[in-house]
Amino acid sequence: MTALRRQVAISVQTFMTKASLSEKFALIEEHWRPKVVAQLNGQELKLVKFKGVFPWHHHEKEDELFLVWRGQMIIEFREQRVTLQAGEFCVVPRGVEHRTMAEAEAEVLVFEPAQTRNTGNVVDEAFTAPNGVVL
Ligand code: NI
Repeated sequence: MTALRRQVAISVQTFMTKASLSEKFALIEEHWRPKVVAQLNGQELKLVKFKGVFPWHHHEKEDELFLVWRGQMIIEFREQRVTLQAGEFCVVPRGVEHRTMAEAEAEVLVFEPAQTRNTGNVVDEAFTAPNGVVL
């Protein structure tokens, strides 16, 4: 409950003010740990630094949008892969298996409903990240 209150307070502060993606990304030191920078309409905008290969998973109820801010990433599906450069985006539909990867560190924006688990249907000791961590 305390964590929820803190999120709400911070989300209020993001209304009618501005924020810098470069400055926000500069604060992130870990890979694969999403940080919430805005909340609106039940959705969250999360910033994540990718490096390496993320586990295969799907999301039962959530579509996910990935937008690359800096670097390059790949979204791999079972039968195809999509390479995204900075400024490019792709939506992964709910129920579709996917994994993300980046050879060199990439900075990525993720748009999805609040409380979406980053590893979807999978719980992975190394990769499943806590939800609602605000930046
Ligand atoms: Ni996913």
